[in-house]
Amino acid sequence: MYAQSIRSTGKAVQSLEDMSAEDRQFQERINRGEKIEPKDYMPAAYRENLIRQIGQHAHSEIVGQLPEGNWISRAPTLERKANLLAKVQDEAGHGLYLYCAAETLGVSRDDLFGMLHTGKMKYSSIFNYPTLTWADMGAVGWLVDGAAIMNQVPLQNTSYGPYARAMVRICKEESFHQRQGFHIMIAMAKNGNDEQHRMAQDALNRFWYPSLMMFGPSDKDSVHSAQSMAWKIKMNTNDELRQKFVDATVPQAEFLGLSIPDDHLNWNEKTNQYNYSEPDWNEFNDVLAGNGPCNTERLDARKKAWSDGAWVREGMMAHAAKKAERKAERQAV
Ligand code: 3HC
Repeated sequence: MYAQSIRSTGKAVQSLEDMSAEDRQFQERINRGEKIEPKDYMPAAYRENLIRQIGQHAHSEIVGQLPEGNWISRAPTLERKANLLAKVQDEAGHGLYLYCAAETLGVSRDDLFGMLHTGKMKYSSIFNYPTLTWADMGAVGWLVDGAAIMNQVPLQNTSYGPYARAMVRICKEESFHQRQGFHIMIAMAKNGNDEQHRMAQDALNRFWYPSLMMFGPSDKDSVHSAQSMAWKIKMNTNDELRQKFVDATVPQAEFLGLSIPDDHLNWNEKTNQYNYSEPDWNEFNDVLAGNGPCNTERLDARKKAWSDGAWVREGMMAHAAKKAERKAERQAV
């Protein structure tokens, strides 16, 4: 079982027979669908891999506020502004649930932020692209949140309890985000004037392939999938989810009267799914290496937010220390 020799956290996936007794019991719990809780035994690599994935996910939620925050003051109506503001606030909340889930694995939030700021931990590639027009708010909700949901709904069944429970609430809110994005696209692409339709098409053209990249490299290049799936940290491969996303999104584009920017897109009667063109993986690797259009801007914004908030953290620490001191004094009397 799990005999694939695919590289994952540096090692091949071990078979049950090759595991220590403790690791075998752990794997059997996972295979039975039991949830692993913070105080339960877990192999060090399971813990590390979860911290990596949950941390990257948390950072994505937080950095993901930036491209949309850019449009709050320029939303076309009060209702759109309120919706966008609520959405951006939700993303902050998602980041916080996920940081809390990561903290249950013994990593501190300061360390997680430190790893983001020094580039040791990643955040989703998608947030390194600019949002140039209001139609991009529609495309981000429709495509980016749509891709996020496709990935995150199965994660509600992930093996680590705190992560799975955080995903339940996150998915409910993400589905509101996807709908508000699609609603903007309907207003512009279906019910709007020619110029609004053109803006919606332009937003789809720019966000289509970066959205496909959100699912990660193709399965043959994914280093973590085999082990993460054996541990049910991931429930599907990158290509499986990318295909599901394409199959769900193409009819939505048709409904909107928009064209997916892929000349090779066609329905495959045999597989009952769309054939589509792969994204440019050189571009993906470039963005991951820090060379996307907005990498520097995004990271600088996060580092500035961290240093601007230093006085708040210091004040809260001083307050907590004072409270602890008073409590100790009362107990001593
Ligand atoms: N952006 C940045 N890095 C990516 C990436 C992407 N789109 N896709 C893959 N990578 C990185 C991986 O992190 C890994 O690098 P690392 O070893 O330094 O961590 C490397 O590329 C190899 O990829 P793998 O396929 O081996 O990595 P994973 O098995 O971790 O799969 C994943 C990648 C599918 C993104 C998986 O980590 C996952 O499902 N994560 C949870 C969901 C998540 O993080 N979503 C972020 C989306 S944005 C969001 O949720 C905000 C919302 O409000 C829109």
